[in-house]
Amino acid sequence: MSTLFEPIQFGDLALKNRVVMAPMTRSRSTDQAVPTAEMIEYYAQRANAGLIVAEGTSPSADGMGYCRTPGIYNAEQIAAWRQVTDAVHAQGGTIVLQLMHCGRVATVHNKPAGSKTVAPSALKAEVELFTDAVGMAATDMPHELSNAEVYEVIEDYRKAALNAREAGFDGVELHGTSGYLPMQFMSENANQRTDEFGGSVENRVRFPLLVLKAMSEAIGSGRVGFRFCPANKFNDISDSQPAETLQALLDGIATLNLAYLHIMRAHTRKIDAFAVARAQFKGGLIINDGFERDTAIEAVDSGAADAVSFARHYIANPNLVERLAQGSPLAEFNRDTLYSAGPVGYTDYPA
Ligand SMILES: Cc1cc2nc3c(=O)[nH]c(=O)nc-3n(C[C@H](O)[C@H](O)[C@H](O)COP(=O)(O)O)c2cc1C
Repeated sequence: MSTLFEPIQFGDLALKNRVVMAPMTRSRSTDQAVPTAEMIEYYAQRANAGLIVAEGTSPSADGMGYCRTPGIYNAEQIAAWRQVTDAVHAQGGTIVLQLMHCGRVATVHNKPAGSKTVAPSALKAEVELFTDAVGMAATDMPHELSNAEVYEVIEDYRKAALNAREAGFDGVELHGTSGYLPMQFMSENANQRTDEFGGSVENRVRFPLLVLKAMSEAIGSGRVGFRFCPANKFNDISDSQPAETLQALLDGIATLNLAYLHIMRAHTRKIDAFAVARAQFKGGLIINDGFERDTAIEAVDSGAADAVSFARHYIANPNLVERLAQGSPLAEFNRDTLYSAGPVGYTDYPA
């Protein structure tokens, strides 16, 4: 039997195996960003994972960008998430919450009343977003965060980490890729600031590093993870120095004692992100993107990583760990119901 199916400890997080469920936005929350009963069932069905990283969830009303995505910034959301974590824990699972602040990847049609779209600089993301109200919509021109407001956003993350613990999550993961706020700070095409958050690579990685530090101080670094993908261009983002950015991040987190690093395969052949992270990061290493049973077993048994995360395979295979352990064939998922409301294509895939 492969070590893929053996337990491991990441900081304060106990994983019963090294198969991780990667975070996936599935748009099953209410219009008020509150988790639904379907989400309780969905995550409980997948509690066999060594670790569930629950979907990108906004730390603040300003951080919302997509329709029917959840938040963790008010009492109603905390209470609803509590039912999800209780159900997962009842099945013996471990679950952390991914904190995703969309920054400029947002449209007013998907945002709570009174919230604003914010970013490092007043530069619009050239992407369209799906909305229930008007179909595809352009993103908002973002408000450029003042220096004081950047520190307020860091504070929002700190509170969100505390809220996640109150909701029963075992920890939190900072979403640091895919063109959302932390990546906007790290990329010159979205960040033209002249304060301590702009210019040099060291300045551009300051925001995610301060967020990780704040969350670690709030809930303990052994309950905090970080997700990154060098050179990821998703959502109109571009970093011309991805190797330098990765290095600056690794240097910055070296003393933070985080539970784990969740690295996606670099979107450039020039960087072997898994090898670089493995050589330099002392905590748990989860790797992701395109893994199958054989490649996951090879990665963990060879020591290239401590764990492998699966996103798409978890959609239609709620008992993925059992299927991987037995070498059973995997079911295919239906694209049409990825982000649709309701249980169809969500909780109705059989074990
Ligand atoms: C429907 C869907 C939603 C996703 N939502 C998120 C998300 O909220 N946060 C995130 O970091 N990645 C998200 N991803 C990316 C996945 O976590 C993962 O990195 C990607 O699918 C590659 O892994 P895979 O080959 O195992 O599917 C999403 C992917 C899919 C298919």
